[in-house]
This record gives sequence, C-alpha cells and structure tokens, in this order.
Amino acid sequence: MNRQFIAKHWYADVYEQFENQTYDVEFLLGVLREQCGGKPQNILETACGGGRISVPLAEAGHSVTGFDADEHMLMRCYKRMGGLPNIRCYKADAVTSDWGADFDVVVLAGNVLINIETEADYAQAQTIFIRKAAEALRQGGHLYLDFDLHTDPAPYFNSLGETTYLAGTDDMGTSGRMVSYGGVYDLVTRIFEGVKHLELMQNNGENVIVPMLWHKHIPSQAQVFGWLEEAGFELERTYRDYTDEPLAEPETEHVRATIWARKK
Ligand SMILES: C[S@@+](CC[C@H](N)C(=O)[O-])C[C@H]1O[C@@H](n2cnc3c(N)ncnc32)[C@H](O)[C@@H]1O
Repeated sequence: MNRQFIAKHWYADVYEQFENQTYDVEFLLGVLREQCGGKPQNILETACGGGRISVPLAEAGHSVTGFDADEHMLMRCYKRMGGLPNIRCYKADAVTSDWGADFDVVVLAGNVLINIETEADYAQAQTIFIRKAAEALRQGGHLYLDFDLHTDPAPYFNSLGETTYLAGTDDMGTSGRMVSYGGVYDLVTRIFEGVKHLELMQNNGENVIVPMLWHKHIPSQAQVFGWLEEAGFELERTYRDYTDEPLAEPETEHVRATIWARKK
C-alpha cells in the first residue's frame, strides 16, 4: 500500500484518539447559546477535521457545513455524521477555495490558525483564512476564532531534543509514533521551523518512515486583531482560557484566545 496513504490514515486515526477533549466544544456551544439567543444558526466550520466540533454543533440543532483538505480526517467526519440531516462535509483547500456565502457563523477552532497546511506564505495564509471568513458571512454574522496566543514564543518553540508526540495503533493495525527533534523560532519573522518524522510498522511487519517538517507563523495579538479589523470585523467579545474573563490588551501570558467578532 502507498506510504502516504498508510501515514495519513494512521495520523488521522491516532490524532483523534488523543484530540478527543470536549471542553472546547462545550464552550463553543455555550457561546452560541449566549450570543445567538438559543436560535439555530447556519454555521460553516473551516478545517473541520474528523468532525469533533461540527458533529456536536449539528446535534445541537445548528445547520452545519464543514470542509477540510485531508480526506482521511474527512472519512472520520462522514462516519460520525451518519443519519444527521443538517450537516454536510466536503474536501477543499481553505487557502485556494471559495468558502461560500451568507453563513451566520464561521468557526475557526481547534487552533487551526497555527496549524494551517499550505504551500503559500504562512502569514498570508492566516490573513486569507480571516478574509475568507468575512466573505463567507452575511452582514452582521460572526466569526468564532479559537487559537493559542503565544506572547513569548521564543522559549516555547526554541527547543532541540527528541519528543514523541503521538503514539498508538490505528484501525488497520498500523502502529507507531510521531517523533519530533524540535526546531528554531525566528523572533523577527515569527516563523518556527522544525523537523519530525513518523515511525510506523504495518500489520504485515513492514516499517514505514515518513520524514516531515514543521513550518508555522506564530502571530502576535496585535497582528490577529489587525487582520480582523482589515477584514471588516469588530470584536464583540473575547474569552481567556475558556472562561468568561476577556483577553487583556495586550496579553502578557501564553493563553488560549477565543474571539467572537461581528462582520460590520
Ligand atoms: C488541528 S486540526 C483541527 C481539526 C478540527 N477543527 C478540530 O478541532 O478537531 C487542523 C485541521 O485543519 C486542516 N487543515 C489544515 N490546513 C488546511 C487547509 N489549507 N485547508 C483545509 N483544511 C486544512 C487539517 O487537515 C486538520 O484536519
């Protein structure tokens, strides 16, 4: 079987075994209840992955469209959404595709802002995500943006040494782990570059090693707020670490930032 297929299938399966928390999903459902008066919304989730967020949104009565570039992730979404009439998913690259129009809410959650996969310039891809979110909303619609805000990225990202990120066995019997050797963060460009690989063994005993690279732009609070303003959003509410406490301006600590912004 094709190495990339084995690797992508393993990653999607084992990622979901680890990324199975629900507190961020509960938090989003609470924000929607509070901000939209309990009315069902027409929601787009960009980069919906395996449907960890999109499916509970549909179960809560919202009408949901989700898309993702990774078909192995999407297969999991299709399996999860079976029988729900108010959700649809499709495959597309968020940087190059049209996201549609007239949604009430666009969700960019699960830290996708700093987990974008793209050949494009990373910071530009981040601004494209925010601009396309605005284009996909009706006037007065809202963006829900949830990401890790790194106020001092250098000590967090500048590290060398072996770390195992994910380890486990998928539903095809492929077992293994993702190993990172760390990377380097450039304070000026705010780009982090790192090396890692997947170390897998198929159920027939064959080994598969897949080299991978990390490449991310770590945005500052001022950059994200600036991109939102340029795209025509006004911040209505911010939340710090999934609590009712708003973000400080500027934040001084690494926090989970959640933003509810209205398209003017
Ligand atoms: C960190 S996961 C989050 C998935 C989901 N939102 C969740 O919280 O479970 C990031 C997802 O973004 C998707 N993704 C990354 N870059 C993308 C792109 N350019 N277009 C579409 N999807 C993308 C990946 O395939 C992956 O499923």
